[in-house]
Amino acid sequence: MEVRFLGHAAFALSDGDTTVVIDPFLTGNPKAAIAAADVAATTILVSHGHADHIGDAVGIAKRTGSTVVAITELAGELGEEGLDVRDPNLGGTVRFDWGWVKLVPAWHTSTTPKGTVNTPAGLLINFGDTIVYHLGDTCLFSDLQLVGKRTPIDVALMCIGGHYTMDRLDAVDAAGLIGAKTVIPCHYNTFPPIETDAQAFKSDVESATGSNVVVLEPSETHSA
Ligand code: NI
Ligand code: MN
Repeated sequence: MEVRFLGHAAFALSDGDTTVVIDPFLTGNPKAAIAAADVAATTILVSHGHADHIGDAVGIAKRTGSTVVAITELAGELGEEGLDVRDPNLGGTVRFDWGWVKLVPAWHTSTTPKGTVNTPAGLLINFGDTIVYHLGDTCLFSDLQLVGKRTPIDVALMCIGGHYTMDRLDAVDAAGLIGAKTVIPCHYNTFPPIETDAQAFKSDVESATGSNVVVLEPSETHSA
């Protein structure tokens, strides 16, 4: 399975047949690896309603016919667009033929482009034999530890940019709590308020924890 960084907090997980796209903010994203019109997707996962996460989810889902997974209220709003949605709440698991996705807490806020307020989530994903944890947007909180304790994590996709989420220093502690084999940083350097030093994050995590950090440029992939 390949983890491809699409820029900001957007990723595509693919085995060549199935492609799971997470938080596809591409239009208006200065770091977007590809155009929304070129995204292949079989399933789209949306962590929360902010525009830099919901992004092009509606357009990609309409074009590809992919199913969209989001927390109940957000899924309800996306369903009004005529999309095929699955609507778990925190703790809920949605199963597919490629694996499953479970919603876990994220400490953040969430308002959609339409102005409705809902609850943000992290995304715990089983794709084939690999467990991927997209933290969504979050600050550092101790229950991150429960996620990795309950389900050992192969790859954590972790926000590090600060200002809107935890910064790279808090994220070192988050990496220690989660205990993933590999951490891929995201949600940084897209806009000036979230500029940070990903190589410093890598060196701090690798000296303080047992995790390896893989810094991907947009469009680069990591084999998991
Ligand atoms: Ni957000
Ligand atoms: Mn965000």
